[in-house]
Amino acid sequence: MKVCIVYGSTTGSTEGVAKRIAANFAGAEIFPASELRGPISCDLLILGASTWGLGDLQDDMVGFIQKYSQVPIAANFGAVFGLGSQTGFPDSFVDGIENMAKFLEKRNIPNIGEWVADGLDFSSSRAQLPDGRLMGLALDEDNQADKTDKRISQWIAHLKKLAGAL
Ligand SMILES: Cc1cc2nc3c(=O)[nH]c(=O)nc-3n(C[C@H](O)[C@H](O)[C@H](O)COP(=O)(O)O)c2cc1C
Repeated sequence: MKVCIVYGSTTGSTEGVAKRIAANFAGAEIFPASELRGPISCDLLILGASTWGLGDLQDDMVGFIQKYSQVPIAANFGAVFGLGSQTGFPDSFVDGIENMAKFLEKRNIPNIGEWVADGLDFSSSRAQLPDGRLMGLALDEDNQADKTDKRISQWIAHLKKLAGAL
């Protein structure tokens, strides 16, 4: 399975997580959102970015979404992860996940990365689904860095299962 990971990171936290996610897939390609230009072709496209301002998707990923409304993408499946701070920004926690999930939807790429919000404590997120799950994997490197490894490995096992089964 060819996996492409595209990330937007302002202070390096999402970049670090993107590399840790990439290490779980043999031969995964990983790109900073600001540097991609040409068509994308992969089995699974993973988008990851942080949230800034009050619920704003990270700038490089905003640019990627604008650019790739025109540039061709061939991907069988998509998935999204987002970084945020649940204590600092409990009312806009990982809101940027929603922007990335909507982008996948617009490009007709099935999002197989919807995931539980277990162990997270926040008031509101645009990324939350009616059943309480989130449109992607939420990670909080500011407050719960110790939980990141386990969250990543559980999510990736789920992605591999779905991408293999569908
Ligand atoms: C000024 C500022 C605004 C932020 N706004 C939000 C926010 O609205 N929601 C959220 O979940 N996290 C917010 N965060 C937390 C960042 O998303 C978090 O620190 C993240 O790990 C940064 O990742 P990066 O280094 O990859 O950009 C904010 C952080 C700062 C410093």
